[in-house]
Amino acid sequence: MSRTGLPPFRIGQGWDTHRLEAGKPLILGGVRIPSEFGLAGHSDADVLFHSVTDALLGALALGDIGMHFPDTAPEWRGADSLQFLQHAIHLAAKEGYGMVNVDVTVILERPKLKEFRVAIRESLARAVKLPVHLVSVKFKTAENVGPVGEGLSCEAQAVVLLEAVSPAS
Ligand code: C5P
Ligand code: MG
Repeated sequence: MSRTGLPPFRIGQGWDTHRLEAGKPLILGGVRIPSEFGLAGHSDADVLFHSVTDALLGALALGDIGMHFPDTAPEWRGADSLQFLQHAIHLAAKEGYGMVNVDVTVILERPKLKEFRVAIRESLARAVKLPVHLVSVKFKTAENVGPVGEGLSCEAQAVVLLEAVSPAS
């Protein structure tokens, strides 16, 4: 335990998936990616931000994104997922934790995302208030296998590390 009585570090994992549909916007980490197909969901369906939000909630053992932002609630229809992520960061701060680093993998068959890596990393870094060198964003295809590989959906996985921050003196 640290001086604060909290475990000095906590790790969290998050996973999310959304269906791909023609004509929907493809928003990943707050960045709009040009694509004929985008993600369907109650909110803006930003699967990357959702996975990081769940990783943060997991590290804090505070449930999952749907408990905090039910997808039946009218106020979250079309919501910018940045607010979900910022709420989870706010909860971490309330519990006495700050983020150390974040590592995300997006699994999407197409379009290719690597030309957007800088923009997505910078957007995620801004969202979680970390320097870009502590923010990793990786892309994978599913090698044409399964629903992601068949272009029906997109997945994201995230891991975050939190550290206990000294209480303000
Ligand atoms: O899935 P696979 O290993 O074949 O991906 C090869 C590379 O393609 C990855 O390293 C990744 O940088 C890039 N990629 C991408 N956009 C995707 C999937 C993969 O830029 N949608
Ligand atoms: Mg989601």
